[in-house]
Amino acid sequence: MLLSVENLHVYYGAIHAVKDVSLHVQEGEIVTLIGANGAGKSTVLNTISGLLKPRSGKIQFMDHNVTGVAPNKIVQTGLVQCPEGRRVFARMTVEENLEMGAYTRPNGKFDENLEHVYELFPRLKERRTQVSGTLSGGEQQMLAMGRALMSEPKLLMLDEPSMGLAPLLVEQIFEIIKSLHKAGSTILLVEQNAQMALQVADRAYVLESGRITLSGTGAELMASESVKRAYLGG
Ligand SMILES: Nc1ncnc2c1ncn2[C@@H]1O[C@H](COP(=O)(O)OP(=O)(O)OP(=O)(O)O)[C@@H](O)[C@H]1O
Ligand SMILES: [Mg+2]
Repeated sequence: MLLSVENLHVYYGAIHAVKDVSLHVQEGEIVTLIGANGAGKSTVLNTISGLLKPRSGKIQFMDHNVTGVAPNKIVQTGLVQCPEGRRVFARMTVEENLEMGAYTRPNGKFDENLEHVYELFPRLKERRTQVSGTLSGGEQQMLAMGRALMSEPKLLMLDEPSMGLAPLLVEQIFEIIKSLHKAGSTILLVEQNAQMALQVADRAYVLESGRITLSGTGAELMASESVKRAYLGG
């Protein structure tokens, strides 16, 4: 097991945002967490990556107990989140942003990783000297993903990579997710675009009001009547 989350509870003050969530991710899998706005998806990811502290529960990543551990320490174990809203360093160039991604891997294969990111995202290569704040939304999303990849993740967590993008770009982002998967990456994907997410996922969990209400293979959930009704517009 690469990641296992057991009986996680997370609060914002009195608000009980994540209720007894258990999930796991095996090496090489794409696992998706789908759910409506406010279901608690980002809260789950932010707790796994150490940005939020759980009230109770356990998070195990490989042989590390990372429950409540500081985010910078967690990143060093290879558990890397690409946050919602594609936060890039706006005043830095594309390439400087990518360099920042590599800072947790001082002994990493920097040149090779950079070449790999530029292969995945040729657009970023074209714009390597452009100030990131002036990139389009889609380009910033690519940069946020590229920066995460520079840190050689063992598990990459993506929070709504398709948010706010035009359909063609959504397709592109999912093509890249598929090609990362083919190359052996392990991905935990949070999406509101349930259709696309379930198509690429090996397994999926449905989160409703902070609770996991359903889980199964991507195909099983796509065939589920309640999932179709609630998330697939059918
Ligand atoms: N900093 C915060 N303080 C108080 N409540 C919060 C905070 N952040 C999130 N919440 C609440 O916790 C719940 C879960 O929010 P979360 O951001 O995890 O949802 P989400 O599933 O990621 O939604 P979306 O799809 O809109 O990104 C929501 O009800 C939200 O209002
Ligand atoms: Mg969210």
